[in-house]
Amino acid sequence: MGPISDEAKPHAVLVPYPAQGHMNPMMKLAKVLHSKGFHITYVISEFNQKRLLRSRGPHALQGLPDFRYETIPDGLPPSDADATQHVPSLCYSTSNSCLAPFLQLMGRLKQSASAGLVPPVTCIVSDGAMTFSVEAANNLGIPSVLFWTASCCGLVGDVRNGYLETKVEWIPGIHNFRLRDLPSFIRTTDPQDIMLNFFLGEIENAHKASIIVINTFDDLEKFSLDYISSVFPAPIYTVGPLPLLLRQFNNNSTTTSSLSSIGSNLWKEDSSVLHWLHSQSPASVLYVNYGSVTTMSSDQLAEFAWGLATSKWPFLWVVRPDLVEGGSEVLSSESFKKETEGRGMIATWCSQEDVLNHPAVGGFLTHCGWNSTLESVCAGKAIVCWPFFGEQPTNCRYACEEWRIGMEVGPVVEREEVRRLVVEVMEGENKGKQMREKALEWKRKAAEATKPGGSSYQNMERVVEAVLNMKP
Ligand code: UDX
Repeated sequence: MGPISDEAKPHAVLVPYPAQGHMNPMMKLAKVLHSKGFHITYVISEFNQKRLLRSRGPHALQGLPDFRYETIPDGLPPSDADATQHVPSLCYSTSNSCLAPFLQLMGRLKQSASAGLVPPVTCIVSDGAMTFSVEAANNLGIPSVLFWTASCCGLVGDVRNGYLETKVEWIPGIHNFRLRDLPSFIRTTDPQDIMLNFFLGEIENAHKASIIVINTFDDLEKFSLDYISSVFPAPIYTVGPLPLLLRQFNNNSTTTSSLSSIGSNLWKEDSSVLHWLHSQSPASVLYVNYGSVTTMSSDQLAEFAWGLATSKWPFLWVVRPDLVEGGSEVLSSESFKKETEGRGMIATWCSQEDVLNHPAVGGFLTHCGWNSTLESVCAGKAIVCWPFFGEQPTNCRYACEEWRIGMEVGPVVEREEVRRLVVEVMEGENKGKQMREKALEWKRKAAEATKPGGSSYQNMERVVEAVLNMKP
């Protein structure tokens, strides 16, 4: 299906959960829909509006005539902090306070449509963690697309939370699991737990969506997908990995260059890391990044630091300003600097996809956030895993046991284990070699899925067609 003519432009309102790991994939989906001829309204929180202006400059929210930003409050007290918000507080507040301001926004869009300023809203694309907007879509009689930004295996864990008292191996849709591999949010026996109740509510609301799309691909998660398809009444479409799918759809788009000025990074990217990578040999650098939410103690930081130092491999390490709870003195200590002189680069944020796809990067030490995991699959890089929270332990287990591209650092970080795993992933002749080969195999499969005729490419075409033909 080609682009849609201007007179008949459909209009998608996209509602990402207001955190980096959700805004990025939702932005990619928005750009894919834009390339298919949709007018886009991308909804951000007031908190993130300020952050985007700081990280991307005064023109950050300029958008395009048919790609607009809108803002709603997240319900938390106003703040100018440049750090990830407390996840349970944010979940509680978005699910309890965003419906009213979102309905007001929809009212304003309706007025603008009546005045001919924007096309009438065709569908609402709700993050799986912002399902008040599914409710709004149903109230307004607008079709809703639920976008699950994380892994399908993670979704299985969330869906089966009522089964925590049963044996883990009985959970359908995932296998070969330990209790600690299930999403951390549901590993509780406290019925009042905020995150447990948040997910119970979100999963219940997800049952009311007209369509569900997931940022994964069939080959990667078939087992979990089969199960999830039996849980929800809505048809389920895999459209990932979105970084690759977007590249395909961009190839057909005439607005690619203007779209590239629109971004969702909440921290300012340090471009010097790419210059540094240019000076390194192929597959010689270990890239280390724990995403936007992970925190660690000074002691854990020191164990990672000395594991990297004693591995003797060059490393590019992203240490977010809010990563360490306590001091990060180890990084400026004379002994660490001396040990890593000339082979260590530390930055506060980077353009991760560019880094992962750089030929100098040979492996990735990651917290297994779903975007990081998928971006690593797209780049064909093997991983050392240190999951922190949410569905990251589930992603880690799949990466290690099913996809065979990863090895896990135990929950207690120890420098010798970090050193051993880094060396294995970078140069190991047995396990390490197998992981590096597997990573390249998954890269090929991801590319297949997103090429014209591939499962995710075709599914995206089907989603667009379904949305255009959907009656509320
Ligand atoms: C969170 C959860 O941790 C994750 O498990 C869940 O699936 C989504 O929400 P986060 O911890 O931030 O996300 O990790 P991740 O999912 O990997 O997302 C981080 C995003 O920020 C990625 O798209 C990554 O490319 C980007 N990033 C990260 C950068 O561009 N630069 C950086 O320096 C770090």
